[in-house]
Amino acid sequence: MIRPWTDALARMRGRIARTAASMTAGFPHFADPATGAWTTSPAGDWTGGFWNGMLWLAARYGDDPRSRAWAAEWTARLAPRADSDTVFRGFLFYYGAALGWLLCGDAAARDVALAGAHGLAASYNPRAEALPLGAAAEEASDVGAGEANVDTVQASALLLWAHRETGDAVLRDIALRHAARHIEFCLREDGSVCQSASFDPASGRMLRRYTHKGITDDSTWARAQAWGILGWTLTHAWSGEARFRDAAERAADWWLAHAPADRVAFWDFDDPKIPDTFRDTSATAIVTASLLTLAPRASTPERARAYRDAAEATAAALVERHLRPDGLLADGCYSPRIGLATRHELVWGSYYLFEALHALAGLRDPAKIV
Ligand code: GLY
Repeated sequence: MIRPWTDALARMRGRIARTAASMTAGFPHFADPATGAWTTSPAGDWTGGFWNGMLWLAARYGDDPRSRAWAAEWTARLAPRADSDTVFRGFLFYYGAALGWLLCGDAAARDVALAGAHGLAASYNPRAEALPLGAAAEEASDVGAGEANVDTVQASALLLWAHRETGDAVLRDIALRHAARHIEFCLREDGSVCQSASFDPASGRMLRRYTHKGITDDSTWARAQAWGILGWTLTHAWSGEARFRDAAERAADWWLAHAPADRVAFWDFDDPKIPDTFRDTSATAIVTASLLTLAPRASTPERARAYRDAAEATAAALVERHLRPDGLLADGCYSPRIGLATRHELVWGSYYLFEALHALAGLRDPAKIV
């Protein structure tokens, strides 16, 4: 069973190398499946860290000697984002810099990641016990000091890593409170996840639940479910706290009970047009990587087996039906609400499939933190 994973890794590494060798500015953001051409973001938007993360994985486990220099170069390009007013510094600096230290021992990457973590921590609202989206978060509307969404729970992993590096207990406290508050904001009784919430920045009181990118406020947008599983899984992995494993398991069990029989989620579980609507390979890839991380930490042996089996079957579905020979992961769905990149390669989807393939191929042990 190792071979299909190794072949898939080789295809993805080939595309990463071709992209890195030809891109002179910006960060890959999403790619047109017809041409393979990337739309770039000049300063990394919310997604540049995923590109760097792929380069760091390639540097650690691949055999292209250029990967390490590419990873270092793009990590340096991210450094100015430490001051961006966006909670997505969690994605940018965890995958985009901290991985450089964790995987390759790159001291410059560690410094960039710590600057990002400290910048992010400064945006914490202690009354809300949350890191708000911030004015420069990527969503076109509903951003700022009183807005939150589940896509941001992963930010806790950056702060927990920074706490381990520095011993600064404030970073750990913020991380745990942020991840816990989003259980209240976003995790519904039945284990489904609502993407977004507004709160009063002065009192911290939650004002409403809604969605930035799902079909309706009450629907379950596939990436909301995926980001919830990922964020609470990583918070548990870094902190060891059972309450985050419990939240991750509730969300993961809901996903497994509702995912299509062929494993690849539609973009919103409640789109009335299913099956004649968009898939989202990126949500599916996020869940695949998360289940691999959650399985060795699961609360019961039955869950551990179910998560690992589901991850393998889901990765196989992605590789067989959506990963092209040229290494492009097609059929990611960025935002149908604004008609943006609905059948495209999305750099974060590619990152999580790439991460998962390293575990499935036996190159990295998902029971360890990286
Ligand atoms: N806000 C992150 C996403 O679109 O998935």
